Amino acid sequence: MTKQLSIKAVDLFCGAGGLTNGLLKTGINVVAGYDIEESCRFAYEYNNNAVFINRCVTLLTKHDIEQHFSGADYTLLAGCAPCQPFSTYSRAAKQQGLKFDKRWTLLSSFGNLIKLVKPDFVTMENVPGLADQEVFKDFLLLLSKYGYHTDFKIIFCPDYGMAQTRKRLVLIASRLGEITIPRPTHNPNTYLTVADIIKGLPKIAAGESCSGDALHRASRLSPINLRRIRTSKPGGTWLDWPEELRSNCHKKESGKTFPSVYGRMSWDEPSPTITTQCNGYGNGRFGHPSQDRAISLREAAMLQSFPKNYQFHPKDKIAQIAALAKMIGNAVPVRLGEVVGQSISSAVPHNH
Ligand SMILES: C[S@@+](CC[C@H](N)C(=O)[O-])C[C@H]1O[C@@H](n2cnc3c(N)ncnc32)[C@H](O)[C@@H]1O
Repeated sequence: MTKQLSIKAVDLFCGAGGLTNGLLKTGINVVAGYDIEESCRFAYEYNNNAVFINRCVTLLTKHDIEQHFSGADYTLLAGCAPCQPFSTYSRAAKQQGLKFDKRWTLLSSFGNLIKLVKPDFVTMENVPGLADQEVFKDFLLLLSKYGYHTDFKIIFCPDYGMAQTRKRLVLIASRLGEITIPRPTHNPNTYLTVADIIKGLPKIAAGESCSGDALHRASRLSPINLRRIRTSKPGGTWLDWPEELRSNCHKKESGKTFPSVYGRMSWDEPSPTITTQCNGYGNGRFGHPSQDRAISLREAAMLQSFPKNYQFHPKDKIAQIAALAKMIGNAVPVRLGEVVGQSISSAVPHNH
């Protein structure tokens, strides 16, 4: 009988565990996650058989990481640093001379740990804009210097079976030989849609939560926003509203650049990118396709491909809505974690 080879992984910037959960599904043994946000501990540990360690990645040593890898046949270090420093908005802020964001250095800290630990495999995920940054080019150089084969790609999530038009830069690297990001599994004719993911959930009204699932709760809407959503069409914009419902910022020329705010999703298309503010009707196209409310946090989590029963907070504690929305919007979609896990598992040499 051939021995089942174990890949042990440590997930830096682990959040609520989207990436960890996806990797675990492919048989990679994620043993620990590091994050500075204590509010992520419950979700991370409750749903994944891995320990959450509240520590800043910049302070980690070689030993901190290596202690998790004992007994492993192969090792994986994952690091999905916060994406805000690389987003279009933050780059614009930087060009305008606004203050340097310390999070820019987090990718370098991850690189430094790779240099010290030399795991067999490495993966990272971030916003597409990172691909043009010096810090990413330096990261690639470092991987090449330490003998890694790399592949990276800007992934359009619907191409890999996610019902969300998120685009992410995904990198995988191996010291053991060639590694490639797999080819898409879906095409526009087979994309999963919002209906495929959330249609079966119980109906709730704005401001209401579902008795069986505290995460299936929708934000309250002001009287004017209730009137707005009633006139919003799936996939439409606020241009569909009568003049008296439009706000002053919509009437300004600049407002026209954000036509999808206060929009409704369409049942038969993937959702927009789920953000950390996805539970607010005014923050993007986060209106439910047919109910007069924003999507619930459960719906957002499911569109991020978290399993329906993923628990984000203890049942006996009051949920901190903003913190939960942040965890969900920040997560690597679980399915994307699976795509990464499959590539890594299939890059393990069989004749060990
Ligand atoms: C993009 S999110 C990661 C999402 C996570 N990988 C998932 O799949 O759910 C980035 C995370 O980095 C954490 N973070 C930010 N700065 C950090 C630091 N210096 N050390 C450790 N974690 C940090 C944030 O709290 C946040 O949870």
